[in-house]
Amino acid sequence: MANPTLLILAGDGIGPEVMGQVTRIIDWFGVKRDLTFDVEHDLVGGCAYDKHGTPLHDDTMARALEVDAVLLGAVGGPKYDNLDFSVKPERGLLRLRKEMDLFSNLRPAQCFDALADFSSLKKHLIAGLDIMIVRELTSGVYFGEPRGIFEEGNERVGINTQRYTESEIDRVARSAFELARRRGNKVCSMEKANVMESGILWREVVQKVHDEDYPDVELSHMYADNGAMQLVRAPKQFDVIVTDNLFGDILSDCAAMLTGSLGMLPSASLGAPNADGRPKALYEPVHGSAPDIAGQGKANPIACILSFAMALRYSFDQGEEAARLEAAIEKVLADGARTADLMGEEGGTPISTSEMGDAILAALEASL
Ligand code: NAI
Ligand code: MG
Repeated sequence: MANPTLLILAGDGIGPEVMGQVTRIIDWFGVKRDLTFDVEHDLVGGCAYDKHGTPLHDDTMARALEVDAVLLGAVGGPKYDNLDFSVKPERGLLRLRKEMDLFSNLRPAQCFDALADFSSLKKHLIAGLDIMIVRELTSGVYFGEPRGIFEEGNERVGINTQRYTESEIDRVARSAFELARRRGNKVCSMEKANVMESGILWREVVQKVHDEDYPDVELSHMYADNGAMQLVRAPKQFDVIVTDNLFGDILSDCAAMLTGSLGMLPSASLGAPNADGRPKALYEPVHGSAPDIAGQGKANPIACILSFAMALRYSFDQGEEAARLEAAIEKVLADGARTADLMGEEGGTPISTSEMGDAILAALEASL
């Protein structure tokens, strides 16, 4: 059988630095676990603009649609801040998401015990936390028409429209139920059905998908504002949360920060399955290009490495190997390895990006 294909778009700023550690880990899985990927590298964001005058070349876009998964670092930086909107680095990322039709955005909030003190919550509330927020990514109020700033009488009015079709709700609900079956088998759907018609339809469709095809999964519904309260009051009550684009944007940031640093947060964005059953998929850390520390070897590579772990699990059906990688990360953190962003009040000496990579590779090696 042909090797699975990976397109790596390391991007700008710390993107290439953190991705450098991921490629070492990919190589390790090839040599030690007989899990070889055909890896291609290409440009996205500012570096693509520098070379091609566009943040995403058409050939790169075409390849992204063909490969089994795309792994992205980060895009942007001060050098590109004054570019025209149409060629800004983030347009490259937005084009990928749009043309790959990545409607389901997975944002885990997982607490590594060694970092529990980083949370703003009491330790017992988050120790062992493992929740997954599924955010609808391609529709809702960020895209609905009409939108704009209009004249109305003698003042202006700003308009955005929350709009969801049944099929858009149906497909993201399915993706949440599928995920729940591989985890704690529990889904909580969040909307504002009390004040929004789009929320009424959301609740109805999620319930219907559940009753028809996923009756074995435990389903509850919650108003999104209560959901925000519950996330900070007792986050461990949740397994999978599914919600729309706007609420998901806010709730996923809130949930993510329960567990500490931006340098630790991975994400996946999934689309419709291909013929072989694999969803179109883009994996990337939540953080940006961190121009303030770029080029200094200070960046934490774990968010990007955990994004590759998600790729192993969700694109390549290698849940055990993903767990091996996550356990290696848990181990190095428990042993005290800390990049600068993970230094607590007790101080100490931070390790570099590549030293964190060394430590994780050593822990992987020890796992054999
Ligand atoms: P950022 O996430 O790049 O940085 C925020 C803060 O977190 C900085 O102090 C940075 O040093 C730190 N940080 C981020 N990732 C880290 C890591 N792996 N290890 C250690 N520290 C880390 O967000 P910011 O500063 O708002 O944006 C910087 C640039 O990145 C901008 O050009 C922005 O447009 C772009 N950006 C790109 C994103 C993407 O590619 N998906 C997402 C967010 C921002
Ligand atoms: Mg956000």
